[in-house]
Amino acid sequence: MHNNRTTITQYIIEEQRHVAGATGDFSGLLNDVVTACKVISNLVNHGALVGVLGSAGQENVQGETQKKLDVLSNDIFIRSNEWAGHLAAMASEEMEEIYPIPARYPRGKYLLTFDPLDGSSNTDVNVSVGTIFSILRCADDVVEPTEQDFLQPGTEQVAAGYALYGPSTMMVLTTGNGVNGFTLDQNIGEFILTHPGMTIPADTREFAINASNMRFWEPPVRRYVDECLAGREGVRGEDFNMRWIASMVAEVHRILTRGGVFMYPMDEKIRAKGQGGKLRLLYEANPMAFIVEQAGGAAITGRERIMSLQPEALHQRVPVILGSRNEIERIEGYHQR
Ligand code: AHG
Ligand code: MN
Ligand code: MN
Ligand code: MN
Repeated sequence: MHNNRTTITQYIIEEQRHVAGATGDFSGLLNDVVTACKVISNLVNHGALVGVLGSAGQENVQGETQKKLDVLSNDIFIRSNEWAGHLAAMASEEMEEIYPIPARYPRGKYLLTFDPLDGSSNTDVNVSVGTIFSILRCADDVVEPTEQDFLQPGTEQVAAGYALYGPSTMMVLTTGNGVNGFTLDQNIGEFILTHPGMTIPADTREFAINASNMRFWEPPVRRYVDECLAGREGVRGEDFNMRWIASMVAEVHRILTRGGVFMYPMDEKIRAKGQGGKLRLLYEANPMAFIVEQAGGAAITGRERIMSLQPEALHQRVPVILGSRNEIERIEGYHQR
């Protein structure tokens, strides 16, 4: 009855068939990433039943207190992806240094960056969280991969995706050929293509920002939000709606579903800490920018296209403003004035 449904494995293999010179390496890698996300989904889903909620009692390189699930998800990603011979190295939010593939395994030609658990402050309150990943190519002549090999602009990404652990578990994927969404059928343990060709409407009347930072915002962001809040009485002449989930994966998924704007912009508080933004370029901003652009949206720092940035450090942070194209153009215009 269900055998006419497309599984993610079938989708990936059939897509790669059209790529000249494809060896199956990339399909194998995506398959391992999918497996890792299924394992994390299961763990997140069982929550308190298996004792995985709460703090791990230590900090990561970002100075954030790690949740148990941050550490466990990181471990699952490493173990699922290190053995198969597709990767040269990995990098994660939860590891200060890059993770070169151990010598006991064959070394492959790709690099994998990931945010193993995004929105992890939401685990204890049972609100949606996710996993974000990005795949880069490792240069052929690299013998021992270093942090430097990861510092490629987002335009070099071969693939990017996220898993969303919400009421359903979903996987959203781009290999630079549009965006497709898959829903995990828990009964058979497979992601099924349920959202082919996802696109972001160019216009929206919905925005997402952490308004507790309002007093720190720069004038262009303040202006945009003020105009939204003024509603039909203001210059926009229409009422706007607002959301803030505090899980970027869930916000981006909403935007891919019904449009919207997501902002974690530069502000005075971030600047005072000497940081370039809140979100991390290599495993949050770039993969999400790739997905959003592939769905017809736009992703900027305010002044530049995120995917054009030349990364300078593994855990570099950047401002992120992404979503419906016409609104992002408007916000970019406000930054240019
Ligand atoms: P992470 O849980 O991977 O550290 O990322 C959290 C990020 C992002 O998902 C979310 O948009 C933002 O931080 C929430 O920040 P605030 O708590 O400042 O709202
Ligand atoms: Mn974190
Ligand atoms: Mn995150
Ligand atoms: Mn995280």
